[in-house]
Amino acid sequence: MKIIACYSNKGGVGKTATAVNLAHAFAQSGARVLLCDLDPQGASGFYFRVKPSKKLLDEAFFKDTERFAKAIRGSDFDNLDILPANMSFRDFDVFLSRMKHNRERLGRSLKSVAGDYDIVLLDCPPNISMLAENVFEAADHIVVPVIPTTLSERTFEQLLDFLDDHAQADKQKVVAFFSMVQKQKTLHAETMARMRETYPDRFLAVEVPFSTDIERMGTHRAPVATFAQTRPAAKAYDELQRELRARMEGTTDD
Ligand SMILES: Nc1ncnc2c1ncn2[C@@H]1O[C@H](COP(=O)(O)OP(=O)(O)OP(=O)(O)O)[C@@H](O)[C@H]1O
Ligand SMILES: [Mg+2]
Repeated sequence: MKIIACYSNKGGVGKTATAVNLAHAFAQSGARVLLCDLDPQGASGFYFRVKPSKKLLDEAFFKDTERFAKAIRGSDFDNLDILPANMSFRDFDVFLSRMKHNRERLGRSLKSVAGDYDIVLLDCPPNISMLAENVFEAADHIVVPVIPTTLSERTFEQLLDFLDDHAQADKQKVVAFFSMVQKQKTLHAETMARMRETYPDRFLAVEVPFSTDIERMGTHRAPVATFAQTRPAAKAYDELQRELRARMEGTTDD
């Protein structure tokens, strides 16, 4: 089982769009996929028409593996299950602060379902919290969508600095890609060129374009490939899946 976190310390950059479309793309390719929504906003579950879990409240997420497994729901798609979020997930840091081994708890919960899945995708909330430290610890790959603007460049730097300063987290796990790209904007083109140069090998080749097809996922409540398969955004997420798979094949399985 490989764990792929869709993470950024910045909000609204396309983490959820990535988690949802990647989960679908990996499942379509035949992998057994669990999409785990860690954000109390519950957007991943919303896109897949799965209701918030009422069973997995309070500390059960980190302590009760039976309930954790029972909270997993099927989706409308083969090979793709969802662990929906609920509002109690907003208190994850409070729960974690009370626990021993509190940077390893997420990894332990996910290990309990390791036999059932090839890939677990994490849709993460946008902050560097204790939950985020659990994500950094548990994930094999931390996939970071970056909108090519000055502010995103700064937050990306902050993330790498944080990982540098915290012994348990591994900077090498970070795989970035450009998201919501508007190539006609000089700022986007210049920022992408500069960041690719500053961080060699860190950015995937794929660029996910700014696209109303992604925005329309909210009305369809489905991954973009189900209603706009031949359009650039769907193709980009499929390419993202292929590039990630190629990177994963370069690492050993657990
Ligand atoms: N490539 C894209 N083109 C156009 N709009 C996009 C694209 N990707 C995401 N969006 C839109 O931008 C908004 C934020 O996207 P999304 O929810 O995926 O970001 P996020 O990083 O998960 O946000 P949050 O930090 O709130 O969890 C949504 O309305 C989504 O429809
Ligand atoms: Mg989100």
